[in-house]
Amino acid sequence: MSENNLLPYNTMRMNADSKGIIPIYSERDVFEVLVEQLSPLKIIGGGSNVLITQDQDAYILKNEIKGIEIIDEDNDKVLIKVGAGENWHQLVMWSISHNLGGIENLALIPGCVGAAPMQNIGAYGIEQESVFHSLSAIDLSEGTTRSFFKEDCKFGYRESIFKNECKGKYIITHVNYILSKNHKLNTSYGAINNKLEELEIANPSISDVANAVISIRQSKLPDPKIIPNTGSFFKNPIVSISTLKTLELKYPEIVSYPIDDEAAKIPAAWLIQHAGFKGKRVGDAGTHKNHALVLVNYGNASGEDMLSFAKQIQDGVAEKFGISLEPEVNIW
Ligand code: EPU
Repeated sequence: MSENNLLPYNTMRMNADSKGIIPIYSERDVFEVLVEQLSPLKIIGGGSNVLITQDQDAYILKNEIKGIEIIDEDNDKVLIKVGAGENWHQLVMWSISHNLGGIENLALIPGCVGAAPMQNIGAYGIEQESVFHSLSAIDLSEGTTRSFFKEDCKFGYRESIFKNECKGKYIITHVNYILSKNHKLNTSYGAINNKLEELEIANPSISDVANAVISIRQSKLPDPKIIPNTGSFFKNPIVSISTLKTLELKYPEIVSYPIDDEAAKIPAAWLIQHAGFKGKRVGDAGTHKNHALVLVNYGNASGEDMLSFAKQIQDGVAEKFGISLEPEVNIW
């Protein structure tokens, strides 16, 4: 394997070449790359939310900027500055060891801190925007540093400005979060409460909630180190209430979560399962047996194999339910 091969750098374990892989440990490293005028540039963090479908005619900057620092605090809150190359779950563990609340529901999400605002990661009733303060990024064409505050990031459901109009334009170097010393836990998500009851924990701590989340995730989501995957492959589609009502007449058991008076989210996993794709495998591409929304590479699937399997799922769901599924992962 060439030293520029991306296979070790993506959790779906796609075999694809690049023009070069350059580790970035500091802002200064970014400026040095810019001075050398290497181009085009692409950025990879944990490689856990990207499906690489072809060789990359680009230099890949591997974000390795580390560090977790408290930069301000009062009686109630702590402002932290985190290197974008820190592992997200390690940050959650750090917050728990410092008894700081706000991200415990986001335990065990793969990937690095720089990807968290990009995707606006979320799980079990919390999205990272609820603790986000600001971030620093370097504009790759101008070579300038810029701060983005919450309103600049245009966060949405697994969305931000960095997946849309600013796609590929910046490398995020640090993210600042506000964590809480007197944290109000959010255990509203059914599965967390059930797990805490099962463990007979009546007054959970931040750490109890993180442990419940870890245990739920481990029971149904495949570990990418064992079965290569990129977590949820599609977004949960948002439909109008009238579409939902029509579907409910035909499929009374359909699952949905109301958003407001006009729209609801339907779990893509439910649609995929009921279109007959749960645990299905075509060659080495498949969906996981415990979770229909997780596409897995059972061995040597190529990017094309994964894409064509994803397309079969999209077609199957569109044909049966009239709903189009949109990938949640970034496709390269
Ligand atoms: N379901 C099925 N079949 C399955 C799995 C689930 O029908 O094979 C149904 C069940 O009714 C279940 C519902 O789908 O109640 C929702 O499933 P789950 O709670 O596992 O959540 P999800 O909607 O599939 C989302 C996020 C996950 C996050 C979980 C928990 C997206 C795209 N995914 O998944 O995030 O961990 O909620 O909050 O929003 C990720 O983004 O990579 C990710 C893993």
